[in-house]
Amino acid sequence: MSAEGKVALITGAAGGIGLAIAQRYARDGLRVVLTDLPGGNGEAEANAIRDGGGWARFEGLDTTSETAVEALFDSVEAEVGPVEVVVCSAGIATGGVPFQEMALEVFTRVLNVNLVGPFIVGKAAANRMIASGTRGSIIHISSVGSVLGVETSPAYCTSKGGLGMLTKVMALAMAKHGIRVNAIGPGPTLSPMTQASLNDDAVEMMLSRTPMGRFAEGDEIAGVAAFLAGPDSSYITGQTLYADGGRLALNYVVTHRKAG
Ligand SMILES: NC(=O)c1ccc[n+]([C@@H]2O[C@H](COP(=O)([O-])OP(=O)(O)OC[C@H]3O[C@@H](n4cnc5c(N)ncnc54)[C@H](O)[C@@H]3O)[C@@H](O)[C@H]2O)c1
Repeated sequence: MSAEGKVALITGAAGGIGLAIAQRYARDGLRVVLTDLPGGNGEAEANAIRDGGGWARFEGLDTTSETAVEALFDSVEAEVGPVEVVVCSAGIATGGVPFQEMALEVFTRVLNVNLVGPFIVGKAAANRMIASGTRGSIIHISSVGSVLGVETSPAYCTSKGGLGMLTKVMALAMAKHGIRVNAIGPGPTLSPMTQASLNDDAVEMMLSRTPMGRFAEGDEIAGVAAFLAGPDSSYITGQTLYADGGRLALNYVVTHRKAG
């Protein structure tokens, strides 16, 4: 791809899928601003990218704060240049209970991080791209959970379902400005999120319903993000591209089979 030299800002980039995308973009020659909640691995990961010859810097950012997001875009634009590629990967998967048992505070928190955050970041990015005439690419990280419900993940699935529609309405509003908005819908992917939340039974269940029989590596999701950032995807907007090992193609009435 030839998004080389462009400035990319990635949320949730201290680990997991966001970090894999940051590393891929840096390998592809983009200048990458990694952002995540302050205090994690982000600074060390940005250092590691620089040590490997890439361009990277880390900024602490809570994506649910519009004031903080606006201020960060201002400073990045002033110090690095107009942001041309934005990836919203920050997300949480708190829950584990059906909706009727879920505290309102938990439901709201998940919606805030997974849906309101991408709205705030997407709005800040889009307005600056319009103002600077940047024909940019905005990429949300959705999930197969946007179209497949899980009884015990009411907030997560609802947030990702909403993110699919946010992607469409943003794409419609941005099309006349030459700005593309898409989402990636990963299936089960190796990351701190999955490592922290899944026990052996859950892994076995997920893999038994994933035709490719394995988790994705973060880099396999990053490849889709590279495609969506570059000119090869120039006529794609408003889409969610699923990188799911065949999961959405599977009719679940077939016999449950062992992973592998
Ligand atoms: N791993 C999977 O199997 C999988 C599958 C489908 C979709 N996803 C989605 O991919 C994205 C990345 O997930 P991951 O698996 O890499 O998880 P992860 O937990 O490894 O990474 C998520 C990052 O988001 C950050 N974050 C959380 N709240 C934030 C906030 N308010 N502001 C800024 N950053 C915040 C966390 O600190 C963390 O570094 C998420 O949106 C997730 O829903 C993951």
